[in-house]
Amino acid sequence: MLLLTLAFGALAVLLTWDFVRKRQRAATLERSKISGPLSLPVLGNGLQALDLGAENIVDWVEESFRLYGKTFRMWILGESLIYTKDLKYFEAILGSTTLLQKGQLYKFLRPFLNDGLLLSVGKKWHARRKVFTNAFHFNVLGHYVDIMDRQAAVMVEKLRGVADGETTVDMLPYVSLAALDVITEAAMGVQVNAQSDSEFPYVQALKSVVYIQSDRMFRFLQRYDWLFRLTCPVLRSKLLKDVRVMHDFTDKVIRERRAAVEQAKADGSYRPLSLGDPEVGRKSQMALLDILLQATIEGQPLSDADIREEVDTFMFEGDDTTSSGVSFALYAIARHPQVQARIYRELLQVLGRDPSTPVTQAKLQELKYLDCVIRETLRLYPAVPAVGRYTSKEIQIGGQTIPAHTSIYLVLYFAHREAEFFPDPLAFKPERFLDRADSEDRETFAYLPFSAGPKNCIGQKFAMLEMKALVSKVLRYYELLPRGPEVKPMMNFILRSSSGMNVGLRPRRSS
Ligand code: HEM
Repeated sequence: MLLLTLAFGALAVLLTWDFVRKRQRAATLERSKISGPLSLPVLGNGLQALDLGAENIVDWVEESFRLYGKTFRMWILGESLIYTKDLKYFEAILGSTTLLQKGQLYKFLRPFLNDGLLLSVGKKWHARRKVFTNAFHFNVLGHYVDIMDRQAAVMVEKLRGVADGETTVDMLPYVSLAALDVITEAAMGVQVNAQSDSEFPYVQALKSVVYIQSDRMFRFLQRYDWLFRLTCPVLRSKLLKDVRVMHDFTDKVIRERRAAVEQAKADGSYRPLSLGDPEVGRKSQMALLDILLQATIEGQPLSDADIREEVDTFMFEGDDTTSSGVSFALYAIARHPQVQARIYRELLQVLGRDPSTPVTQAKLQELKYLDCVIRETLRLYPAVPAVGRYTSKEIQIGGQTIPAHTSIYLVLYFAHREAEFFPDPLAFKPERFLDRADSEDRETFAYLPFSAGPKNCIGQKFAMLEMKALVSKVLRYYELLPRGPEVKPMMNFILRSSSGMNVGLRPRRSS
């Protein structure tokens, strides 16, 4: 009896707390005319939104924009969320130098990325961002293009077995392993040969962790750590085991590279690099890890733990994003023969007839039309479909008041499909970027595949080079054909397609 009374008492307190908290925030949102679906006490919209499954989120968000306008709100267990495609929000949030904290959903990245560049804020983020800004300077990316070209060559060989003109090929698994090989070598300076050995434990663990954590975002019973622990103990222990595999591998590589630096110190060939040193990133063959090992912040070297979170961040950011971009591009090109013909003409003109001739950074830069094709791909299929920020204080945006403790998600996917900025928005038309000035997009915030402001994508130049290197190599060897079902875009951290990203491949006569 006592237990029952206590349980009822606790429930009453919970309901009252939820009611008061929600009433205050709801009143603010109502005054600002931000509406959203009806919500249950305590659970809010948890059951509606989180049992949709990742493959239905795009349709659900689209329908919500249709019903509630360019900005709508949700409640999940007292958590307040806003989804928007209104560019005045984009401008206010991404233009801010103080609103840098990520939205609540990013907590799913924390177990494996810890407090790396993507998730960190404040002094720590600022100092590290400076170190990496030099490392990603356009002038120092040439070395990475060699890695990209080599791995692209492996990928086209792997594709040979399915390039019969008939087979429907989902490009993502091929591209994803190639991108993983590129980023592992670029970030850590080691070759895992994922394309030849996809069973390599690190490769398996990274894929599994990303899959489990993306899926959890949309499952109510897994969304909160305490519920996940209770309801999915087996999955949770798999997650922890995989994270350990990843961290053990990164730790091992860091130890070995550090030993090499120590050796260099011993034989007198080592010269420490400090923040802002023009040598950072300039030395050829330098992996991002080497830059971290040699950099100092306020005179102090980074610890192994500091370095690991940054390397893991690059591994995550550098693999899934570019493989999404490349696979959607190949899919779109396969379905637009005139676009494909125009790219191919450009490839012959700039790179010549022999498809095995390696590309260079300068040659990739000359591929202007391919550049437009990739930009158009990232418009319709932005690899990062939404970016989120959390405000701990009440803020005003364009005359609307956002309550404190709200996560605001800027839905790039739908902002990029607004007819006002992109006439005939659903059509794949790379030509629209031929005479579109970057400055126009920066001013209007209408096109932001790499986000904007202080926490924009630091790897965007690297990513554009990689996407061009992989797409151009495939097209130099194969003609792409429309095969298999159309894409069905699916949002998790990274944009995917629940129906695959399918093409057919036919070897070109010259290859
Ligand atoms: C198509 C490819 C890519 C796209 C579309 C993309 C997009 C983005 C976006 C939208 C953000 C901002 C996220 C946010 O504000 O929440 C971001 C951040 C970031 N990206 Fe990328 N990215 C790509 C490739 C890469 C690559 C190849 C790397 C590294 C090699 C990279 C490293 C990072 C890092 C470290 C951040 C965090 C920056 C910070 O917070 O200071 N990205 N990316």
